[in-house]
Amino acid sequence: MTDRLSGKSKTCAVIGDPVEHSMSPAMHNAAFKEIGLDWVYVALRVRAEKLAAAIERVRAFDMPGINVTIPHKIQVIPLLDGLNPLAEKIGAVNTVVNENGVLTGFNTDASGFLRALTENGIRPEGTSGVILGAGGASRAISFALANTRVAPVILNRASGLERAKQLAATVSKTTGTETIALELNRGNLTDALKKADILVNSTSVGMSPDTENSLVPAELLRPDLVVYDIVYNPVKTRLLREAEAAGAATVSGVDMLVWQGAVAFELWTGKKPPVDIMKKVVMKHLSEGNI
Ligand code: ATR
Repeated sequence: MTDRLSGKSKTCAVIGDPVEHSMSPAMHNAAFKEIGLDWVYVALRVRAEKLAAAIERVRAFDMPGINVTIPHKIQVIPLLDGLNPLAEKIGAVNTVVNENGVLTGFNTDASGFLRALTENGIRPEGTSGVILGAGGASRAISFALANTRVAPVILNRASGLERAKQLAATVSKTTGTETIALELNRGNLTDALKKADILVNSTSVGMSPDTENSLVPAELLRPDLVVYDIVYNPVKTRLLREAEAAGAATVSGVDMLVWQGAVAFELWTGKKPPVDIMKKVVMKHLSEGNI
């Protein structure tokens, strides 16, 4: 974006370690350009011991905001001045907004997950949702659903069942929406899906090069189920292909990726994000194998 940098240019960044494969610089720089903002977005590798110094630079350089990625999403919290209520519940931050030196943390993994649904015309309020996996992504998604009163059923393989139970207990206690965790097996999956309106795969199963795998037998998919896969490479996982074939509505991981960025963009700039352009950039990167 050097053709349009000036003395007035503002700088946003993603900080993490590693960050070199991030698609956020391409996505945000294209968005700034599209709406004619003299802003630039860079990826900065920040090691754990330099996190506090990096956050102080956000204030010192008067940056409008940053994204925070692995491994800093939790450790950044005590370095901020405040948290948005959903980020506080989740206990993890991926977006920071700087207003005159006051830094507030948000979790747009969670709000982006929800926006990707509503922007696809899906309103999950008051229903129940099955979430496969209990890692970092599952945490944001479980809180996002429970916070909108969609009762999560978290299914995880036996080796990670304890992790899933801890997550479910925290979500129940913090949101007041009953959240349960069960072992991921055919019987539990069948029962949980019978009562659910939305199914989310928050594991890496189905991700390239593992593209022929899915945790859900095709015969359990039905037309009145919304199927959301956080995997974005390939854009259409086996789970999404089989969901489509069953007549279900589908949402791809690309939408979650784009919407977590779009919500952050909105928070920093106060402007409507050019989501189509952002999605186009991500799709181009994916089609070129640039990840
Ligand atoms: P992220 O932070 O992206 O969510 P993660 O923390 O590695 O990534 O979590 C991935 C989740 O997918 C975990 O719950 C993991 O199960 P464990 O908790 O037992 O580790 C789950 N997962 C990964 N590979 C899986 C597989 N082949 N079958 C079932 N679950 C799997």
